[in-house]
Amino acid sequence: MTPPTANLYLVGFMGTGKSTVGRQVARQLDFQLLDSDREIERTQGKPVSRIFAEEGEAHFRALEREFIEHGHPASRCIVACGGGLVVPPGMLELLRRRGVIVCLHAPIETILKRTMHTSHRPLLQVDNREQRLRELYAQREEIYRRTGTMVLTEHRPMREITAHVLRVYRQEAGHFPK
Ligand code: S3P
Repeated sequence: MTPPTANLYLVGFMGTGKSTVGRQVARQLDFQLLDSDREIERTQGKPVSRIFAEEGEAHFRALEREFIEHGHPASRCIVACGGGLVVPPGMLELLRRRGVIVCLHAPIETILKRTMHTSHRPLLQVDNREQRLRELYAQREEIYRRTGTMVLTEHRPMREITAHVLRVYRQEAGHFPK
């Protein structure tokens, strides 16, 4: 049996570990790892924070859609998706047509700890970061839940998280043409 080649999209809230887990899974599958934020920064020639500041969030969301529709290979990729990529109407369906989706999950308390001292996320450049995070988390919870399998990324060794993601990928990738 030939191994599956469908893309794997890692979605989930900021700070759930998409890039870290993506790196491990990409190594195991020998796939290319793409991070949607980094790819957009590369094509636009500026950081996400500047895109938000100069062109606004709606423009950034359009760039995310463009990246998913036309900006990456159709197979053998792990895509670590920015936390809001799957949120706008139609994006989940778009991802579903392109590959397997796994949603990484961590409780809000863990996300607060993991994101408290980072400065590159424009949505968190507010006075009350905790309140902002709690609001966003509550708004998005339902959509993340709808994406499919949720994999918990706290209090678990990385190899176990990676094995769980790989298991889901191998089960679901069979539905896609090679
Ligand atoms: C965002 C998450 C970020 C980045 C941008 C917006 C969001 O990616 O795309 O700051 O809306 O949740 P990470 O999830 O990699 O932090």
